[in-house]
Amino acid sequence: MKKDLSNIKKSKYLLDRNHCVAIPTETVYGLAGNAYSDNAILKIYKLKKRPKFNPLIVHYYKAQDIKDDCEINDNFKKLYRSFCPGPITFVLKLKKKSKISKYVTNGKKTLAVRFPNKLVTRKLLRSLSYPLAAPSANIYNQLSPVSKKDVKDEFGNKLKFILDGGPSKVGLESTIISLVKKPMILRLGGLDVKKIDKILKTNVKFTKKNMKIIVPGQSNFHYSPGIPIRLNVKKPFSDEAFILIQKRKYFDKNHFYLSKNKNLNEAGKKLYKTLRKIKHLKYKKIAIEKIPNIGLGQTINDRLKRASKI
Ligand code: TXA
Ligand code: MG
Repeated sequence: MKKDLSNIKKSKYLLDRNHCVAIPTETVYGLAGNAYSDNAILKIYKLKKRPKFNPLIVHYYKAQDIKDDCEINDNFKKLYRSFCPGPITFVLKLKKKSKISKYVTNGKKTLAVRFPNKLVTRKLLRSLSYPLAAPSANIYNQLSPVSKKDVKDEFGNKLKFILDGGPSKVGLESTIISLVKKPMILRLGGLDVKKIDKILKTNVKFTKKNMKIIVPGQSNFHYSPGIPIRLNVKKPFSDEAFILIQKRKYFDKNHFYLSKNKNLNEAGKKLYKTLRKIKHLKYKKIAIEKIPNIGLGQTINDRLKRASKI
């Protein structure tokens, strides 16, 4: 599209000058900057109000492009072939000669890399001579944005430009897997771990400890709308926003569907959008019915559990 082309050009113009630009991805929108520029990366932390000990994911156009920055291994190749571009982030060994800003990795010897699956963003990445570091485009500890409007909601007029790519298809952050040693899931996300198991022919583990050990910044508040959430609810109180994943007849108001037929992909896509909506409607409490703990339901439950601990 013509409009996309001029928006990509504008994004490139700003990024080349070390400004930040919000970019769409299939998972959530990101707040992007030149990963090789200290200046650009410091702007990201400042805009997001994010503590610097929490490292960033770097976004590339294709596998070949990471070779100067990190060590490629067989597990990476297998997963890349099966799922990329897509909602998976790989933690790999950082190369000593890499030009990645020290503020991206926070002195770590590893680098998180990802290949987002959104056409305008892929075209933008292809046009640049550097990769893009991008955390989710929200103020630290707030809900991740899944549309241009959500990013506006987070930052107001503080951003120079938001590249529009329509709503995010997956709507949950990428699944993070460390491939430095034995494969290990660091964050549940938009790619079902079972699919990863199938490709690696093993049972990759996710424990909450993994993330805590490797990334001390990971907090429970992370995905929170700032409103108390009650989980596994059968019957809500009258002042609660009630989130449902299957059709019910007897509720006439205060209810919000993630899906009407327990479709967990659809529910994942709608989760943040729905929580944001409920927040805007100024509800003081949220109740949510039990979400099956399979497929993306696991990721949804992970986010809800964290969000319920405010
Ligand atoms: O879907 C996504 O992954 C989105 C889009 C924009 O790509 N990005 C995203 O970024 O969710 P962020 O910064 O909100 O979350 C990235 C997580 C953080 O919890 C960070 O601690 C972890 O990735 N991380 C970054 N580098 C890491 C590393 N070298 N080792 C372990 N964890 C790392
Ligand atoms: Mg985030």
